[in-house]
Amino acid sequence: MSGIGVLSGQIAMVTGAGSGIGEAIATALAGAGARVAVTDIDLGAATRVADTLPGAMPFHVDVTTAQSSRDAVAAIEAAMGPLDILCNNAGVSTMRRIVDLTERDWDFNFDVNAKGVFLVTQAAVPGMIQRRTGCIVNTASMAGKIGVPLLAHYAASKWACIGFTKSCAREFGEFGIRVNCVCPGYVRTSMQTRELEWEASLRGMTQEEVTAEYISQTPLGRLETPEDVAKVVMWLCSPGAGFVTGAAIDVTGGANL
Ligand SMILES: NC(=O)c1ccc[n+]([C@@H]2O[C@H](COP(=O)([O-])OP(=O)(O)OC[C@H]3O[C@@H](n4cnc5c(N)ncnc54)[C@H](O)[C@@H]3O)[C@@H](O)[C@H]2O)c1
Repeated sequence: MSGIGVLSGQIAMVTGAGSGIGEAIATALAGAGARVAVTDIDLGAATRVADTLPGAMPFHVDVTTAQSSRDAVAAIEAAMGPLDILCNNAGVSTMRRIVDLTERDWDFNFDVNAKGVFLVTQAAVPGMIQRRTGCIVNTASMAGKIGVPLLAHYAASKWACIGFTKSCAREFGEFGIRVNCVCPGYVRTSMQTRELEWEASLRGMTQEEVTAEYISQTPLGRLETPEDVAKVVMWLCSPGAGFVTGAAIDVTGGANL
């Protein structure tokens, strides 16, 4: 299914592609023949990733503003051509008990993880509607299906992402646009490095103990890699998933069962 060339000739925009899961998604899509717009709020990181991928180009985007989202889509389409694929992957987290949670935590998580998905989708979808084709894959989280202590605001923002994904699937289906999301578990990225430090400190544990807990909660017995997620995103973008829309696919090694 993930053979070289399955996405040949397609133009894909990946947000938050300067590191972690987004970088792996950009790499997987480029490996399947797509030309990838590697976008991130950190243009240096996007450039570093784009430089490693054939046909890729880096672009700045801050997904929390409509203007930046529209500007990025316009710049990509002017430079590379009409978008076939959009991966809304940019995301952030902070960790706090609900009693200590600030409005700033809430807004920061919602602005990127929920509003950002809406804004970039809204910027990209009119062209897809006009062309009557398109594929959108959002990076939600297993925290979008369960409650998570210390991450209530993050979990709420990911539940929003899943709700938005399913609503898009219903609204855009008649235009031949598929919209799905992936729900990763405990993935080794810089986000996880930050979370391990916060969780260990908030729970009075060592980072090694927290890591061991993550692994013990995962039936497949290891932490997840960004590539584990990217392979599923790649499949969702491929013709093999041509009748899949509105799905929120667990890619967790079983961590949320
Ligand atoms: N790491 C995990 O365990 C895990 C688990 C489930 C879901 N996720 C989700 O996966 C996605 C990728 O996370 P990651 O683990 O690779 O984290 P990461 O911190 O490595 O990467 C996130 C990227 O998003 C970019 N970004 C942040 N704010 C942005 C903005 N306003 N506009 C554009 N780009 C912005 C960052 O610069 C960074 O490059 C996120 O949506 C995250 O919530 C991660």
